[in-house]
Amino acid sequence: MARLGVVGATGAVGTVTLELLAERGFEDVRAFASERSAGTRVAFGDSELEVEEATPAALAAGDLDLCLFSIGTAASRELVPAAADSGTVCIDKSSAYRLADGVPLVVPEVNGGRAVEHDGILANPNCSTIQLVCLLGPLHDAAGLRRVRLATYQSASGAGSDSMERLRSQDSVEGNVTMDWDFEGDESEEESKLRAETRKILELPELPFSATCVRVPVLVGHSQAIWVETERPLSPDGARDVLAASPSVRVSEPYPTPRDAVGGDDVLVGRIRRDPTVENGLVLFGCCDNLRKGAALNAIQIVEFLSVSGAPLAVRGRRGQYFNTAPESIVPPAASGGSGGRLRRP
Ligand SMILES: NC(=O)c1ccc[n+]([C@@H]2O[C@H](COP(=O)([O-])OP(=O)(O)OC[C@H]3O[C@@H](n4cnc5c(N)ncnc54)[C@H](OP(=O)(O)O)[C@@H]3O)[C@@H](O)[C@H]2O)c1
Repeated sequence: MARLGVVGATGAVGTVTLELLAERGFEDVRAFASERSAGTRVAFGDSELEVEEATPAALAAGDLDLCLFSIGTAASRELVPAAADSGTVCIDKSSAYRLADGVPLVVPEVNGGRAVEHDGILANPNCSTIQLVCLLGPLHDAAGLRRVRLATYQSASGAGSDSMERLRSQDSVEGNVTMDWDFEGDESEEESKLRAETRKILELPELPFSATCVRVPVLVGHSQAIWVETERPLSPDGARDVLAASPSVRVSEPYPTPRDAVGGDDVLVGRIRRDPTVENGLVLFGCCDNLRKGAALNAIQIVEFLSVSGAPLAVRGRRGQYFNTAPESIVPPAASGGSGGRLRRP
């Protein structure tokens, strides 16, 4: 059995990662966090794990096959290379490596075949990117994407456990809408990340893409209003059929809410309608649990994808639970063309 490390195990994403690993039958798991949490205990299924300090030396000891990192960009820049150099396969959820050449940025349903091209480091996209490409990927396959515009409504948990604590302690009537990211010129870094990551995953480097990202007083669950223009006509009914047949997508009408999405594995989508203001325009509304599919679950699905696609990684999860699909439902990169192998709904 592969030996797994969860680095950032005390955080919003790390806690959910441990919960999902236990549920999915992973057993040989260790928990790491900063010096602050070393020696404390975290839940792992029915038991607990003692938290170890994540130092470069501890992660470079060569006694872990695979590490899942959710510790922030600066800490990932220090710790991921230490682990990777010792032969540990690293899946990093920060923005440190997402756009680096040679680092696959993977959402298994969309570009899973790219995962097997890793050289020791794989990147998990931003939570908002993951839910977006789960919808855009199938629409692109069906009709070709010409342009994307979106507005996001992102929950407090997207900014970590401290942000969740702040919202919990606040009077509900004090809720406000903010844009609490750093800005680079006219755009927040969240908006530019969404564009760059979407272009990389879909392999559409010139895709016209404009986003406005907003934080809303919701604890968990990100929402998105998405306007797409396609190259070929696609009716709302056609788009609904395409999305209903796509893995990790569930059509939820008349419209989904973040509360509907929390605790589930799917990206929910509704209000699929024509945008009459442009040629071949569609409008959608999507919601997703940002801590699960937007972070922890996607990374575990990468592990499971690698384990069933013949990559050199001996992880023994519960294979049959992977999207309830059998390994043969994975289309190998050579057969799928374009963006590499991907999962198909069984
Ligand atoms: N929240 C989301 O929806 C989401 C989605 C996608 C990606 N991500 C990414 O995941 C990462 C973590 O996010 P989060 O929301 O889980 O944050 P969080 O709740 O603030 O948790 C941060 C975790 O990182 C640990 N940590 C911080 N500095 C460290 C260091 N120098 N060495 C080792 N461990 C360190 C913390 O340990 P201590 O408890 O010891 O401080 C804690 O376990 C970020 O890069 C974020 O961008 C988050």
